[in-house]
Amino acid sequence: MSSPADQLDLVVAPPLGGQVLYQSDRATVIWGDCRQPEVIAQVPLDYDLLCTDPPYGVSYKSSYGRNFAAIEGDDGTVDWPAVLSQWARRLRASRHVYVFGYTGAQLAEPLCLGPTAEIIWDKAITGMGDLAQPWGPAHEAITFGVSTLNPRHGGKIARKGALAARMRQGSVIRVLRPNAGGVRRHPTEKPVPLMAQLIESSTVRRDLVVDPCAGSGSTGVAAILEGRHTFLVEYDRSYAELAVERIKAAEKIADRIAAA
Ligand SMILES: C[S@@+](CC[C@H](N)C(=O)[O-])C[C@H]1O[C@@H](n2cnc3c(N)ncnc32)[C@H](O)[C@@H]1O
Repeated sequence: MSSPADQLDLVVAPPLGGQVLYQSDRATVIWGDCRQPEVIAQVPLDYDLLCTDPPYGVSYKSSYGRNFAAIEGDDGTVDWPAVLSQWARRLRASRHVYVFGYTGAQLAEPLCLGPTAEIIWDKAITGMGDLAQPWGPAHEAITFGVSTLNPRHGGKIARKGALAARMRQGSVIRVLRPNAGGVRRHPTEKPVPLMAQLIESSTVRRDLVVDPCAGSGSTGVAAILEGRHTFLVEYDRSYAELAVERIKAAEKIADRIAAA
């Protein structure tokens, strides 16, 4: 049964500066608005990877399974590349950025990225999309880039990424989308194996992976399972709480693997 907030399509705004819902030696989950400078200031300076899936500005409303409320910030009124530029300023020099749903042309200048690449997530099965079209959507695009900003010196650097992907990989990643098995917790939940592949390619153990639009927390779960640390922000309290539960479960699994 849906809650009264679901029925009213309401999302309760987080407090100014956000609220830390969970903190451990590996993870921080904040219920907050990632556009607020007070929230951005909480991410450690010189973190190692920005990996995020912001709202697409398309007023996406799922018609599948549970009747989800509209995604916060998805009505086209937020300039997401400009918001992410604030997060990219605290990224360590020459480190990597992955952003779902926005092109290199939209992101390169605000985020101060060097040459970008498009990665395709092949979902393996076709979604519903516009049934009047003969082609159904079965993929999403992810922009990869290397930061050319040096936050310590407040300026641009000319170097290319010092941490190149250790093994060059093809730009199409095929992973079944999470709801394909009938389980659905978030309307645009990303599969953990997909996020793990991106994180594994661009970080080493104990690096800090940041997602300011965390949703159900898949980025953070993948980071923990890969032995990295994570810092997540999510606006919708119910998704932020879901991310906390998933992060705790991932930490238990990671502990068991480490102890085996
Ligand atoms: C496309 S979804 C991310 C889904 C996520 N990758 C996952 O696997 O579940 C975008 C998320 O950004 C959140 N969001 C929207 N505006 C936000 C804001 N100002 N601050 C933080 N999160 C925000 C939405 O509530 C939504 O959960």
